[in-house]
Amino acid sequence: MTSSAVFVILLFTLESFHATPNVCVENLGCLQGTFMPGFQSDKFEAFMGVPFAQPPVGELRFSNPKPIKPWEGILDATKARPDCIQKNYLLPQPFVSGDEDCLYLNIYRPTKNDNKPVPVMVYIFGGGFFSGTASPLIHGPEYFMDTKEVILVTLAYRLGALGFLSTGDINMPGNFGLKDQNLALKWVQNYISYFGGDAGNVTIFGQSAGAVSVHMHILSDLSSGLFKRAIVMSGNAGAPYATPISNPLAQARKQAELVGIPDANSMSSEELTKALREIDATKIIESGDGFKYWHVDPLTTFRPVIEEPSPDAFLTVDPSELIASGRYTQVPWMTGMVPNEGAVRALSIISNETLRSDFNNNFDDFIGKLMEFPFTEGVDSKINDLINHYFYGIHELNEKTTQNFVDMITDRAFVQPFYKNIKQYVETADLKNNPVFLYRFNYRGPFSYSTLYTGNFNNYGVVHCDDLIYLFRSPLLFSVDFDKNSVEAKVLKEMVDTFVSFAKTGRPKGTSDSSLAECNSQVMSKTDDNKICSYKEIKNSINGFSVKIDNYFDIAKVKLWDRILNNN
Ligand SMILES: *[C@@H]1O[C@H](CO)[C@@H](O)[C@H](O)[C@H]1NC(C)=O
Ligand SMILES: *[C@@H]1O[C@H](CO)[C@@H](O)[C@H](O)[C@H]1NC(C)=O
Repeated sequence: MTSSAVFVILLFTLESFHATPNVCVENLGCLQGTFMPGFQSDKFEAFMGVPFAQPPVGELRFSNPKPIKPWEGILDATKARPDCIQKNYLLPQPFVSGDEDCLYLNIYRPTKNDNKPVPVMVYIFGGGFFSGTASPLIHGPEYFMDTKEVILVTLAYRLGALGFLSTGDINMPGNFGLKDQNLALKWVQNYISYFGGDAGNVTIFGQSAGAVSVHMHILSDLSSGLFKRAIVMSGNAGAPYATPISNPLAQARKQAELVGIPDANSMSSEELTKALREIDATKIIESGDGFKYWHVDPLTTFRPVIEEPSPDAFLTVDPSELIASGRYTQVPWMTGMVPNEGAVRALSIISNETLRSDFNNNFDDFIGKLMEFPFTEGVDSKINDLINHYFYGIHELNEKTTQNFVDMITDRAFVQPFYKNIKQYVETADLKNNPVFLYRFNYRGPFSYSTLYTGNFNNYGVVHCDDLIYLFRSPLLFSVDFDKNSVEAKVLKEMVDTFVSFAKTGRPKGTSDSSLAECNSQVMSKTDDNKICSYKEIKNSINGFSVKIDNYFDIAKVKLWDRILNNN
């Protein structure tokens, strides 16, 4: 190196060569990251494939996660690691992919000159607890990084049997996927300051099973203090597909039987755990098909369980009891939905002739099973009620009732739990310090997740996951980038700004209108009007898109489902 002028020129021309981002974390080790280009902005720094736990393999399979140990040398954090091994039953042709060694997180940070600690947003992906990815190819950080205002962390957690199987005792306590997330949140608390992050300013957010997870962290003492705010998108811990497994040991025995372990039904839970640790991971995941009564149902075979109290237990009380009583660490939060959430299950049946006719041949039975009634008495008359309400009394799914089928699943699995959750929250929470804000995402652009559910390009409206298209760049799913001046570019900026503003200040963007802040039990008790607390809605309009504050909500749907589920 001669003069500083030459040095500057060298640095300029060989920037990607010389100035690769590096971070050393005390008591852990050094990492080399990489630069990534933004969507509207120049570039930001990425540290991907950062281990936060010891690989959950061998003796650590079906065990609570263990913190990562310090490493020697420089860890290559320039590439994301493989997904947790999974079979994605949401795709038309599910297949097994990923790796058992998968407990890694990705950190994306703006390139900055000052030393001001940056707020942190931690994203927990969805996928029914059996699938999903933290990969930048699907949960791309570009849009968040364009703001230069937050650090984004995306984390992975164990899925399916490997994430949630349990013997109902200490041998295989279960909830491993949630405990992995919890350990990643602890990692963020301990080490994010080395990346410029503000550990006292962490917002967790997640969608679908990720929303259930975020809600579970709110409810779990084990995660208390690990975050300041939360965003719960299209799902919550009171949803039917999140209901804890009632007999985990029976499920573990069945799993063992499915992979051919002899004496699966007579072994002790300790022997069972040992035997299952010997089985090839791919075989375990592949054998998940054996839990299905038809096609991919039930979708969420593996779920959270209620554990015996112990220092490592994540969940020891039924979430619905916790939600109703308000006994948990409350935080300011934001929650919302899209209109056609139920499309995530309905569309694959609707769009496939074989499946639809199969479904119609078992119509009443399958409707009953899909609805997951929390009781067995009087189910037949409930099914009849539903068929009258959604299918005009015709025991068949046809052209006229396809949207109704989507609606029925939306109402059962999303609308009623959403409403109930908010109502119970405002009745029990300290709203002055921990307000709740609502949104509704109702914008349909050129891409939709419905293409993934069906394999076709029909317009099914705004479906489950479509909001993600405006938060994360997803080149693996939608290979064409939005034009930088398109309506979609504006919609995604509105979404990202709403989320980032909430993460920074505890209030979503565009809520200077005080009406949005006043979600309280008074509004939620007026069930004779079709109203809910006001929400921010992003939707299509003649000018492209519009943002408005609304409070319309179809209470009749909630009442229908309250009546059906209360078994009266
Ligand atoms: C319809 O579903 C069946 C059963 O999952 C599958 O085998 C078949 O390939 C599907 N058809 C199309 C056209 O996707
Ligand atoms: C979080 O970060 C924002 C933006 O830097 C800052 O204004 C705010 O005071 C921080 N909040 C807390 C609780 O530290």
